[in-house]
Amino acid sequence: MPTLTIDGREVSVPEGATVLEAVRAAGIDIPHLCKDDDQAPIGACRTCLVLVEGQRGLPASCYLPAADGMRVSTHGDALDRVRATVLDLTLAMLDPGGRGASLLATEAARFGASGPFAPAPNAAFDDSTPAFTLNHADCILCQRCVEGCQDVQHIGAIAVLGGGEAARIGTFLDRPLLQSICTSCGTCVSVCPTGALYPRVAGSLAT
Ligand code: SF4
Ligand code: FES
Repeated sequence: MPTLTIDGREVSVPEGATVLEAVRAAGIDIPHLCKDDDQAPIGACRTCLVLVEGQRGLPASCYLPAADGMRVSTHGDALDRVRATVLDLTLAMLDPGGRGASLLATEAARFGASGPFAPAPNAAFDDSTPAFTLNHADCILCQRCVEGCQDVQHIGAIAVLGGGEAARIGTFLDRPLLQSICTSCGTCVSVCPTGALYPRVAGSLAT
């Protein structure tokens, strides 16, 4: 059972745990936008950065195995600055007036993110299914929904399509969700951290 020091607090975690799990076990709150509690790490958002004594750079704690004797800091001048920049860049992906920005902005501000946000490049949405809507303007491409669809439900209805500014969540051949193999199980909706995927209630959009 590795014992680590996180911000001066000693914490022991089970073998195989990650540094992010150790940080959270120590009762310390850092952002981890693409890491869902029930899924393997994806390493897409880089919001969970930490400083580890003796290691170069700022590793993503969700991907870093916890090792005995590790000394980890979750705050510090350079680390706080880099994390705030990562959060600002993440917020810049979102529609400034949208659901994702309102869900993330307050939380991100706690960690020094400032905005203002640029207009989101993807304004389209998919409301073809009666169960939920996918609003690309509120999506940060964290890929939690893709992992949930693939690794939890073993369906694989959605993936990241395209690259660069055009990258977005979509289906095989870029068809509407209703014409895909999506079963409307709702896993993607339950793991989305920004509300880009949100349920529709009694035939109308939930707000
Ligand atoms: S739709 Fe939600 S869960 Fe999927 S990539 Fe976008 S923000 Fe992440
Ligand atoms: S939570 Fe670690 S990279 Fe996203």
